[in-house]
Amino acid sequence: MAKGSISSSVIRRMPRYYRFLGELARQGVVRISSRELAERMGLTASQIRQDLNCFGGFGQQGYGYNVPELHSEIGRILGVDAASRTILVGAGNLGKAIAQHLDFAKRGFELIGIFDKNPDLWGTEIAGVPVSDIAEMEAFCAEQHPTVAILCIPKTAAFDTAQKLCALGIRGFWNFSHYDLRQFEDVVVENVHLGDSLLTLSYGLKSSQEPDEKSAGGAKG
Ligand code: NAI
Repeated sequence: MAKGSISSSVIRRMPRYYRFLGELARQGVVRISSRELAERMGLTASQIRQDLNCFGGFGQQGYGYNVPELHSEIGRILGVDAASRTILVGAGNLGKAIAQHLDFAKRGFELIGIFDKNPDLWGTEIAGVPVSDIAEMEAFCAEQHPTVAILCIPKTAAFDTAQKLCALGIRGFWNFSHYDLRQFEDVVVENVHLGDSLLTLSYGLKSSQEPDEKSAGGAKG
């Protein structure tokens, strides 16, 4: 299947396959049937087959999947070997937590620089990377050529910063700033809103406690 024609919902499931298969591989599991993998992941075997078929299909009839092979294939699809040079802008509470707690290398990114406008933070280190004055970002980009930026700055600063970064060669944004970046051509943007995930939980709780809205509506009508 052509790259562009793979649906975003399939692509959004791939990291989960990668994570589950990585855990299985670490437990020493070599082979797994599509039914067992489906049960562990709360999916159906046919859903898994359909998803993986988008990338050419893996596994064999009667054998199932070879766990380490499938894990590394999905890693290849996701680009975890890319080691994309990445900078973080905004070293406040969120930026610090992200830099400290995420294993970037495992996911295909290398954190090479952190920038903030707060002088109190300059010279401090987060995850072994020094925080620099935002005024130094331009020279740093010209020299180090990062291609990805993580934005953990306020919404009001996001557009100007992103525009500057695009001109400095940034091709991908992991954007936490609550400003929906959509304006840039040839730039990949992943806008993250943890609050949206919380709302999905809220909906799930509400739905589990209330009678089915459709059947309730039907009963009335
Ligand atoms: P914070 O105030 O602790 O950190 C923000 C940092 O950005 C500060 O260190 C500040 O000096 C720096 N900064 C501000 N303007 C800048 C600029 N133009 N250039 C460089 N550095 C700049 O705030 P926190 O808690 O870390 O949150 C950061 C942003 O992320 C906020 O806008 C917040 O609303 C948002 N947020 C988003 C979440 C999400 O799920 N997308 C979750 C939590 C926070």
